Amino acid sequence: MDLKSKINLEKLPRHIAVIMDGNGRWAKEQGMARVFGHRNGVKAVRETTEACTELGVEYLTLYAFSTENWKRPESEVNALMTLLVETIKNEINTLNENGVRLRAIGDISRLPEKSRNTLLQAMENTSGNTRMTLVLALNYSAKWEIVEAARKLALATKSGEIEATAIDEDAFANALSTSGIPDPELLIRTSGENRISNFLLWQIAYAELYFTPTLWPDFRREHLYQAIIDFQNRERRFGKTSEQLL
Ligand code: IPE
Ligand code: IPE
Ligand code: MG
Repeated sequence: MDLKSKINLEKLPRHIAVIMDGNGRWAKEQGMARVFGHRNGVKAVRETTEACTELGVEYLTLYAFSTENWKRPESEVNALMTLLVETIKNEINTLNENGVRLRAIGDISRLPEKSRNTLLQAMENTSGNTRMTLVLALNYSAKWEIVEAARKLALATKSGEIEATAIDEDAFANALSTSGIPDPELLIRTSGENRISNFLLWQIAYAELYFTPTLWPDFRREHLYQAIIDFQNRERRFGKTSEQLL
């Protein structure tokens, strides 16, 4: 039986987040430079986005560049920024055809101007699409985001916009860059690394974590289906007992 038919469409995660990892190792395995791995990761991005759209997943967040990734060699950082611009330009028509809206989280003010402008244009260009939202995490760090939210709320309190006593979980979530986006129920990380690397720390409080040894450039529809099936076979208790869920 094919994997797709094993997915219960009534119990799909509304939001899937992915830490796309392993491009460098994939390239190394082929005796190629790391950038070759990044280029080959684009196919996995396309397949994952299309598969999520077809299934009816409402939000897909892809970790594309962390704040810590600036520490990589300059040539790799530049190649990643160029690849971002190229990919967005190449994919924009497909995104529109498939009804995908593009959003970004992270400090995009620090991206090179060309990358930022292409991104802003693409977000504007797809803003009317409603089938799925593709969120790119770019120059993103969860600790940065949480500190930003705290600062925003502190300023709003100071200016009298809100009362300090009105700061609750909802107010805090609304001050994050993911405001309005439901928390991911499923977080996938490829490449066999079992860590979060400063991604969505607040939002994954109750997410199901799925780690796969598959390197990102090898990740295809079937790998996504497998992750969703695994997710659907888990018991999400949210602090309750098994019996209470019956
Ligand atoms: C993920 O692949 C892509 C980014 C972080 C931009 P890596 O480049 O981290 O690949 P590995 O982990 O070195 O194999
Ligand atoms: C996490 O991958 C960031 C992205 C996928 C963009 P890294 O490869 O940078 O993570 P660490 O540093 O190995 O944890
Ligand atoms: Mg990595």
